[in-house]
Parts: sequence; structure tokens; C-alpha cells
Amino acid sequence: MYLRRLDALHLPESPAGYTIRRFIPGEERAWWHLLDDAGGLGTWDAKRAEEAFADPSGRVWKESIHFAVAEDHLVGTACVQLNARRDDLAEMGWVAVASAHRGRGLGRILCLHTLWFMRQRGFQHCFVQTRSHRAAAVKLFRDLGFQPWGAPGDGSLSAFLGALPHRARVETQEP
Ligand SMILES: CC(C)(COP(=O)(O)OP(=O)(O)OC[C@H]1O[C@@H](n2cnc3c(N)ncnc32)[C@H](O)[C@@H]1OP(=O)(O)O)[C@@H](O)C(=O)NCCC(=O)NCCS
Repeated sequence: MYLRRLDALHLPESPAGYTIRRFIPGEERAWWHLLDDAGGLGTWDAKRAEEAFADPSGRVWKESIHFAVAEDHLVGTACVQLNARRDDLAEMGWVAVASAHRGRGLGRILCLHTLWFMRQRGFQHCFVQTRSHRAAAVKLFRDLGFQPWGAPGDGSLSAFLGALPHRARVETQEP
């Protein structure tokens, strides 16, 4: 799904009892454990995480990882992935909330913080990959303004990236 414009965003308050904060170096293990426990995102281990931090077709930008925290426990996450083919385009990646904490708006606020992070770094557009059977994720992304990408060519990510106009990153002030 594609978000054509990263407009100025209003970041709402976190739901009561939760805070949103960024990744601290050394939290790699906690991050992949959260993804592993979320269900539906495959099996995660240290090796898969290292690959994700280096993958040229969707490198997880560690600095962009956001966590939802409840009483010192990490209960949700979202991040930015970067594709070496498109330095103007950010991907929202690895959005997950622990099952006991779903339905409280954490998925939405994690995505909003991640979109804000992208915008601060000059991105003007972004995308997210999901599957139509992930009803909660599809609803979440639609509500944030993402549209299904109109399958050019074979409908693959590669065809999408090839067809999408380039929109240069803009200079912004780092927060
Ligand atoms: C997708 C996910 C991150 C959403 O987290 P969350 O904290 O529950 O999200 P929110 O509370 O912000 O709610 C998102 C919306 O989806 C809705 N929703 C929840 N479950 C739903 C379902 N089964 N069908 C349709 N909509 C659903 C919620 O009602 C909410 O809409 P609302 O604001 O109008 O009430 C979470 O379900 C999850 O971790 N899923 C497993 C991993 C995954 O699929 N990640 C996405 C990969 S692309």
C-alpha cells in the first residue's frame, strides 16, 4: 500500500499506561523477540534480524525503530526500511503489537511516530507491504491514508518501485 504524501502529522498522546520511544543500541534481541512473539510474521532469531539490518532490498534502519512500552515491557514496534534501489522512498516495516495489548490504538500511534520520523528526514512518500488477509493491518494502513498500489506490470514490489515517480527528499531540520 502506498502513501503518496507525507503531510505534517499530529502526534496524539499515547494511550494511558503506554509510552512510545525509540530503539536504544543493544535492544536488537528485544526487537526480534517481539516480532517472533507477535505471530504471523514468521520465525525470528538473531540471524534473521542481522539479515534484516543489512538487506539492501529493505534494510531495517535501527535508529527508526519505535517501541511501545508498558511498565518497562516492550509491547509493540514499527520501523523504517530502506531499499537501495530507491533512496527517495521509505518503507514502513515490521509493525507488530503483542496480542494482549492490541485494539488500544498502539498500532496506529507506532505508525504515526514512524511516519513522523520519515518526514523529519525528508521523505515525501512511503509504502508498506501487507497481505489482504491481515484485516487489522489493512484497516490500520487505510485509516492512515495508504492506498493499495494499482498493480503495474506483474504487481510485484519490483514493478511498483520501477513505476513510481521519484520524489526527492527535502532538506529538513533534524528534531
Ligand atoms: C496489525 C497490528 C499491528 C494492529 O495493532 P493494534 O495495536 O491492535 O492496532 P490499533 O489498536 O491501532 O487498531 C487498528 C485498527 O484495526 C481494527 N482491527 C483490529 N482487529 C481487526 C480485525 N480482525 N479486522 C478488522 N479490523 C480490525 C481496530 O479496531 C482498529 O480500528 P479502529 O481504530 O477503527 O478501532 C496487530 O494486529 C498485529 O501486531 N498483528 C500481527 C502482526 C501484523 O500482522 N503486522 C502487520 C504486518 S504488515
